[in-house]
Amino acid sequence: MSPVQVRPAALFGFDPMYMTKEEERILEGEHGEAPAKAMELLVALGKIYDADGLIPIESAQISGVSYKTMGDAGLEFVSDFSKKKGAEVKVRSMLNPAGMDLERESYESEDFRKKQIQLVNAYSDMGIELSCTCTPYLVGNRPTKGEHLAWSESSAVSFANSVLGARTNREGGPSALMSAIIGKTPDYGLHKKKNRRPEIVYDVQAEEVSPSILGYLVGNEIRDEIPYFLNLTLSEEELKSLGAAMAATGSVAMYHVEGITPEADDFSIEGIEKREIDDKAMEEVKEELKNGPEPDVIVIGCPHLSKKELERIAKNLKTKEPKGTGPDLFVFTSRKVKDRSPESVKKIEKFGKVITDTCMVVSPLEDEYEVAATDSGKACAYLPKLADQKVVYADLDTLLGMIR
Ligand code: F3S
Repeated sequence: MSPVQVRPAALFGFDPMYMTKEEERILEGEHGEAPAKAMELLVALGKIYDADGLIPIESAQISGVSYKTMGDAGLEFVSDFSKKKGAEVKVRSMLNPAGMDLERESYESEDFRKKQIQLVNAYSDMGIELSCTCTPYLVGNRPTKGEHLAWSESSAVSFANSVLGARTNREGGPSALMSAIIGKTPDYGLHKKKNRRPEIVYDVQAEEVSPSILGYLVGNEIRDEIPYFLNLTLSEEELKSLGAAMAATGSVAMYHVEGITPEADDFSIEGIEKREIDDKAMEEVKEELKNGPEPDVIVIGCPHLSKKELERIAKNLKTKEPKGTGPDLFVFTSRKVKDRSPESVKKIEKFGKVITDTCMVVSPLEDEYEVAATDSGKACAYLPKLADQKVVYADLDTLLGMIR
């Protein structure tokens, strides 16, 4: 059963969820209006998903930060909530990407900048760090095995569950915010070991594995099941891309890789359906994604790039001289990683911009561009729907070769 499916009992009347006396007092408003509202939402979620109760979390990661996706209604909701009594986070809480680089202009309007600043300030007033990244684990918040979290960005959720062995459901922006205010989350789904078992095995027989393409393919096939990969050797950066793509074309919130991920040995895969993936299957997906018109922009960094990935791009561009005749280039990362990589940033910025706090999907890319080229499986899935782009897939070396 999928960890986020509503159980039949919940459809016909909710079972009560266990609450401590203190939780009941919070719900009754003893600690202020904001914790009462937060508790109300968590209790409702707990009932829907048949949670045993609430469990403490180590950290929250909150989406719903870009003014592009939140609009005026979202801005109003967050601003109003931030002013209520008791609207302070109880655990370390970080923000997902906003709709623009908070420190430099790129392609957003003045009005957009103004509203975006208001929105992040409202989050900041509640004590949430303005990390504005989908890779909190690269900027000092790296959970350990067994820790409970309330994270909401799908690729971050996948990485935390699969690569780090921490436990989080794929929260919505509001539920992650409310969990941050209470410091707890409903105990159901991927917080339970029994719901983390593999449901389908993929034997990877391909010689050339692009994690973005593999993730795109598998996510499309299985939607929200938990896959277990055999014969797959990937770096941490590649696991980040694999998980992001599976979470975008499906809603895969967790996967295992034999010999690599921390819980892969905890479960037997005997008797589970097994599928094979070969070079032909990978090639078919690549072919489908790589055809398209001439790109007017190259976007790299979905999920946000690590220091190592920035170095690889800088190294590749080292011998090139910019002519300014190719598509524009935007490279997305977190502010902390950018600050740690001054040499790489300097080299890349001879050809384009290294942008922080945002990404190609949640910024208003569509105001300036129509055809985006990317090496990200997740961006291939989201850019057409969320940024009105025609998308062309290419691997990183091919993308960098397009730069002139
Ligand atoms: Fe991150 Fe934006 Fe991609 S939030 S995973 S860079 S769509």
